[in-house]
Amino acid sequence: MKIGILISGRGSNMVALVDAVKSGEIPTSEIAVVISDKPNAAGLEKARERGVEAIVIERRGRTRQEHDAEIIAKLKSLGVELVCLAGYMRLLSRDFIEAFPYKIVNIHPSLLPLYPGLNAQKQALEHGARVSGCTVHFVDEDLDAGPVILQRSVNVLQGDTLETLSERILEQEHLAYVEAVKSIVTGAKASIA
Ligand code: GRF
Repeated sequence: MKIGILISGRGSNMVALVDAVKSGEIPTSEIAVVISDKPNAAGLEKARERGVEAIVIERRGRTRQEHDAEIIAKLKSLGVELVCLAGYMRLLSRDFIEAFPYKIVNIHPSLLPLYPGLNAQKQALEHGARVSGCTVHFVDEDLDAGPVILQRSVNVLQGDTLETLSERILEQEHLAYVEAVKSIVTGAKASIA
């Protein structure tokens, strides 16, 4: 399956997916492209170091729809069948979602539906949660609300800071994202549509 990955920053989840495709853990797949909306995203170089085409498509004052149209065109021209959002900090337009129905997935650092939106780990700490984690889900038009593919939980420990909790959740994110994409690629969770 041809996979496209969208990032805006560090790209550690993207690296986990790229490495899992390369090692064959995610079988019969290819990372066709990594696209960032931010020219300075650290993940771009990490993708290139791994031999993956990595390009920037900035919004540059365009509407969300116009920006997305360029991204959709690039993904379609490469034959991308599955889009993985990996720290992509933009909401997708309806056009984007309709171009890849139930073929767009996202990773979020909480056990959704708890703590959607920004700063999910901080929300968990401030709420006094004893357990948090991460969620891989299909993307639909509602923020962080599409059908769940899988979740991994993480205990919140006494004395956890934002950094320590985020780091432990991130380790689980990498495992969860690889497992979820593998299940989609192998047909275990082909589509809910
Ligand atoms: C991760 O915590 C992910 O769950 C969230 O944004 C962060 C991206 O990190 N959506 P990275 O760029 O994958 O390292």
